[in-house]
Amino acid sequence: VRIGLLGLGSAGMRHSRAFLKIPGVSLIGADLDAERRAGARAHGMTVVPTLADLLATAPDAAVIAVPHAYLAEAALGALEAGCHVLLEKPMATTLEDAQRVLDAARTVGRHVMISFVHRFRPDVAAARDLIARGVIGRPTLVVDTMAGGASDMPAWVWRRAEAGGGMMFYNGIHQVDRVRFLLGDEADRVRAEVRTLAHDVDTEDTVGALVTFRGGALAVIVQHKAPADALAGWETQVFGMAGSLLIRTGQEVRWTAGGTASSLPGSPEDRFLGAATEFVSALEAGRAPSPSGADGVAALRIVLEMYGDAPSV
Ligand SMILES: NC(=O)c1ccc[n+]([C@@H]2O[C@H](COP(=O)([O-])OP(=O)(O)OC[C@H]3O[C@@H](n4cnc5c(N)ncnc54)[C@H](O)[C@@H]3O)[C@@H](O)[C@H]2O)c1
Repeated sequence: VRIGLLGLGSAGMRHSRAFLKIPGVSLIGADLDAERRAGARAHGMTVVPTLADLLATAPDAAVIAVPHAYLAEAALGALEAGCHVLLEKPMATTLEDAQRVLDAARTVGRHVMISFVHRFRPDVAAARDLIARGVIGRPTLVVDTMAGGASDMPAWVWRRAEAGGGMMFYNGIHQVDRVRFLLGDEADRVRAEVRTLAHDVDTEDTVGALVTFRGGALAVIVQHKAPADALAGWETQVFGMAGSLLIRTGQEVRWTAGGTASSLPGSPEDRFLGAATEFVSALEAGRAPSPSGADGVAALRIVLEMYGDAPSV
């Protein structure tokens, strides 16, 4: 499989390291920034400046990892050139653009996978399996908290024109996807307070949201980017009719049911490799990769609803 990778920044280079571990994959990279191209070339990658240059090499598939404002447009270009697409979240900054990507994929008969890489963590997969097997009974309440301490992020993440939104687009949409994935259910109502409390920026750094699901479960989603050192992390609690579980992301999964407490320790993970392997094996098998473009639209719709920008889900 010949992959064209657009965007050689923090996400793009993680995709490139992952894809290069898969036998039979070849990779060409593209980035407008000459320094980013030089860095990738130093790792042995063939690089070109633009999406048009990349598509001129006729790759089988494109991986799109550019700032949010350009994701949908780049995906549409790649689809129209006949590529399958692995598209970074949040997929697009509007529902209309996300839907255009889905429609184009259907029209040209190509697949779109969304880079919700956290699904490929062993702790998340184990928790989903426990819930699906009914170990904690019907889920009633999810509490998902992701807080980041001060850290370097690309500067565009705080600029609305390029980012489209703030921490819900850069980080929190992974929480939304996790909750949908764990529950295996769709949202039916979203309420939220979206605030800029901790940074002097024009996008949000703090969100408290309530999402109700069709099956009746309530999810509380908290997203925060702290301005200072913080005891930060990502924890997901799921309470069910017969027990409960806790994911301490990257560290452990604990659960209790029927009077017995159990736990799975964290294990080494490479979630970008998990996603790359799913993408390549699906293409080789001629099946649709997962998470799908429809998963991307569903998560984007929930975040836009938090922003007050989408019709009710
Ligand atoms: N799935 C994940 O866990 C994860 C992690 C980090 C970032 N991301 C996502 O990846 C995407 C990129 O984020 P990042 O942190 O890598 O940003 P980044 O700033 O580190 O990298 C983006 C790169 O895209 C290049 N670029 C911008 N516009 C371009 C264009 N039109 N043509 C070619 N190159 C262009 C920039 O020069 C830059 O090198 C975003 O959608 C972000 O949300 C996902």
